[in-house]
Amino acid sequence: MGNFDLIIKGGTVATAADTFRSDVGIRDGRVVALGHDLGSADREIDAGGMLVLPGGIDAHCHIEQESSTMLMTADDYYSGSVSAAFGGNTTFIPFAAQHRGQNLRDVVQITHDRAGPKSVIDYAFHLIISDPTENVLGQELPALIMEGYTSFKVYMTYEMLKIDDRQMLDVLSLARRHGAMTMVHAENNDVINWLSERLLTRGYVAPKYHAVSHNPIAESEASRRAIDLARLADAKMLIVHVSTPEAAQAILNARNQGLPIYGETCPQYLFLTAEDLDRDGMEGAKFCCSPPPRDKAGQEAIWLGLTNGTFQVFSSDHAPYRFDDTGKFSAGPNPTFKKIANGVPGIETRMPLLFSEGVGKGRLSLNQFVALTSTNAAKIYGLHPRKGTIAVGSDADITIWDPNWKRTITRSILHDNMDYTPYEGMEVTGWPKTVISRGRIVVEDETLRVERGSGQFLERQPMDPKTEGPGDKAPLSSSNTFGADLM
Ligand code: URP
Ligand code: ZN
Ligand code: ZN
Repeated sequence: MGNFDLIIKGGTVATAADTFRSDVGIRDGRVVALGHDLGSADREIDAGGMLVLPGGIDAHCHIEQESSTMLMTADDYYSGSVSAAFGGNTTFIPFAAQHRGQNLRDVVQITHDRAGPKSVIDYAFHLIISDPTENVLGQELPALIMEGYTSFKVYMTYEMLKIDDRQMLDVLSLARRHGAMTMVHAENNDVINWLSERLLTRGYVAPKYHAVSHNPIAESEASRRAIDLARLADAKMLIVHVSTPEAAQAILNARNQGLPIYGETCPQYLFLTAEDLDRDGMEGAKFCCSPPPRDKAGQEAIWLGLTNGTFQVFSSDHAPYRFDDTGKFSAGPNPTFKKIANGVPGIETRMPLLFSEGVGKGRLSLNQFVALTSTNAAKIYGLHPRKGTIAVGSDADITIWDPNWKRTITRSILHDNMDYTPYEGMEVTGWPKTVISRGRIVVEDETLRVERGSGQFLERQPMDPKTEGPGDKAPLSSSNTFGADLM
C-alpha cells in the first residue's frame, strides 16, 4: 500500500491563477498533496511533457432533453457524458427543462432518472423555466433553489419557451431573493418572426435564411433589455451563447459599471460563420443554431471578449440533432429554415478547439484557458473549490493534456451519438490524453475505463443573495429606483 492511491508525476500543473511544475498526490478521490518526492502510490502516471489541468466543466449542454418542439436530443446521459469525458471534461451541467404545464419537481425527477444510471462524469442541472406560474414562483422554485438547483435558464425567444418581460422580472426578483443565477437566451422573438415571415413569403426558405432571420439586432436588443431588467430587479444574470459584437459590448459595459452581469460564448461563434449555412443543398442545416454563427469580424470580437473580461464562461451549447429524420429533418426532408431543429454538437471538441486556436496561436494564456473552460463555471455555478481547480482538498478531477497531440477532427474519432461534426476536417494541436474524475481514471489510452452510472450528482449550495457568488463578496449594486424591499 502506498501513501497515495495515485500520483501524477512530472507534469506542469496549470490552474486559473498559476502554472508550476508539481506532482499531484491523490487519495480517496481528492487531491491531498502537491509537490515533489511525495512518496509511494498504488499507481503512478508519468505526465512528463504533459499539462495537468483541472477537468473541464461544460456548463451549457443539452443532454437527453426535449427541445421546445419536444424533439429528443441524439445524446442521452451515457453517450453525452462519454463524449464529454473524451473531450477532457469531468463535470457537465445539462438542463432539467420545464415545458409549459409541467411541474418543476416532476421535471427534476425525470432528469435525475435519466442521468443517474448513465452518466460517467459528475453532473448538476440547471433548470429551464418556461412556465413561471404562481405555484412555480411561490413554491416550487424557492424550494428547489434551497435544495441546490441554484441556476436556471429563461428564453426570450422560441414560441413554446419564451417568457415576457414581466415574467422575466418575476423570475429575476425571485432569483435575487433566494440567491440564484438567471441565465438568459437573449433574442427578440418578434424581430425574428417578423423577418422570418417576410423571408418565407418571398420564397427564401433555404437554411442560410435562418441566419438572416436571427439578425444581430434581435440579439443585441434583447441582451440590452435583459441587462436593464436585471438592473431594475438588482439581480445577477448570465447571458448565454453570445454571438455578436454589440451584445458582447453590452455585457462589458454593464460589467464596467460594476453590475453583476456575466457572459458566455461557445465554439460555434469562434469557428463557424453564416457562410457555413449556405453550403450545398441542405448541408447548411448542420450549422443552424440559435443564435446563428455570424461573420469573420464577429468572430474577432468574440475572441476579444474572451480576454477583455466580457466572457467568463466558454461552453459548448451541445445540442445534438442528427442530420436525418430524427433530428434536423424531423419536420420533413426539405424543411424551410424555420423548421430545421436548432443546435450544433460540440461537447468533445470544445476544449481542443479553444486550446489549439487560443493557447496554441497565442490568443489566450494557459491560465485563461483553464478559467474559461473550468474554474469560472465552477465559481459562478456554486461548485468551487470542490471543482474547477487543482488544490489540496479539491476533488481529483484532472485532465492530463498532451499539448503536442495533432489530430484532425472528424466524425469517427468522436464519441457522441451524432452523424456529423460541424468542425469536420479542422486540424488541432492539443488533446486530452488521460481524464481523471474523483481519482478514477475515466479515459486512458483512448479507452473508456469506467462503468455507466459512475458519475455523481453534485449538490450545490444556495448562494448568499447579497453576494455575487461563492467566494465573491461584492455586494449587488442596489442601483434600482425602488430599493431591494420591493423586489
Ligand atoms: O440552437 C440552439 N442553441 N439550440 C439549443 C437550445 C438553446 O437555445 O440553447
Ligand atoms: Zn439558448
Ligand atoms: Zn443551449
